[in-house]
Amino acid sequence: MNRHELVEMLRPGSRHPGARRLRQVGYVVVAAAIVDAAAATMVTGQRFAGLVAVPAAAIWCFFLVEWVLRLGLAPEIAPATTPWAARRAYALSPAGIIDALCALGPLAIVAARSAPVMSALLLFSSLKVLRSIPGVHLIARVFRNERRTLLSVVTLFALVLMISAECEYLLESRAQPAAFGSLPAALWWGVVTLTTTGYGDAIPITFPGRVVAGLVMVCGIAVLALFAGILASGFAAEIRRRDFLAAWDMVARIPFLRDLGAATIAEVARLLRPQEVSAGSVVMRRGQPGDCMFFIVSGRLEVQVEPPVTLGNGDFVGEMALITGEPRTATVTARQDSELLALDLADFRDLAGRHPELANAIEMEAAKRGGSRKLTSGPPK
Ligand code: CMP
Repeated sequence: MNRHELVEMLRPGSRHPGARRLRQVGYVVVAAAIVDAAAATMVTGQRFAGLVAVPAAAIWCFFLVEWVLRLGLAPEIAPATTPWAARRAYALSPAGIIDALCALGPLAIVAARSAPVMSALLLFSSLKVLRSIPGVHLIARVFRNERRTLLSVVTLFALVLMISAECEYLLESRAQPAAFGSLPAALWWGVVTLTTTGYGDAIPITFPGRVVAGLVMVCGIAVLALFAGILASGFAAEIRRRDFLAAWDMVARIPFLRDLGAATIAEVARLLRPQEVSAGSVVMRRGQPGDCMFFIVSGRLEVQVEPPVTLGNGDFVGEMALITGEPRTATVTARQDSELLALDLADFRDLAGRHPELANAIEMEAAKRGGSRKLTSGPPK
């Protein structure tokens, strides 16, 4: 493995096969750390070293090597004005701090062999997976986008909480001084009830107290539903936006589609579904019905005709079945890990109707490849 490949493997969000493998190994190591954290709280004495400390040392060695590599290669992974600026930026980033604590913190603990601290440190390493979960950035972005609406709901929640706690304090404090004798005690009841947790440690017993409690329970469900609804719609909007940007980026890399103009690219980007195929997998089989075609963003596909034809970046495949309505004329396999953009039959027909120049170009290529029939016109089926 050369230096360039190593940098690609360590680059956040890299689609390099090595980066994917490294992420998978990282997950396995973190899973082992979690199991070891549990074992550290169960095993004592002589067996501690063999069963817990030795795997922990191996896990931390892995983290140490990874941290040293990330720090050393930071200028190439995320270039900055100077190499040291890049290293400092990585070392002080949240991911860099977590990596450093995972790599260096345990050194002192191994010597001390403190089971609770070791267990906590091993569990802490599970934070490392945050880097490779794309959803984490999404969550942060959704909270940022929806902050005003969420703040309104939180304010509403606080208002209902304060009013309900004050009511219960007034109604229940004489009957139950232990549970409702002060506003903070009533607030505890309010939080437990509004969040629908219901520990049952404080229960109103007077009739008016129970009426208020009933209303608070209904309000609690409504406020939580509102909160969940805002987050869910925020997520859906953010995912749509992210997929659109990813598709746009890919469409712009295909010469055939790049020349369409911004408005059409945006339209096409909305219709295309990014898809990844690994080397050796079958993309389509001869004789099967065709329900979509693919544009190749990166990688290499092989059409199994005589002699075999290799298609690469910017080419498309699977158009013949959409044009003729007949089964696939050949089996197509991925020769490398490839990024594709899928266009479904209905969208293809729709697009062809609105952009005849696009349909003509695809038809001409299909004719060259062996399909002589024209696009079956008409509305999407
Ligand atoms: P389709 O018939 O839908 O599915 C198999 C695909 O392989 C076909 O569309 C074409 O995109 C592609 N294909 C078939 N024959 C050739 C060829 N001779 N050269 C390049 N591509 C081909």
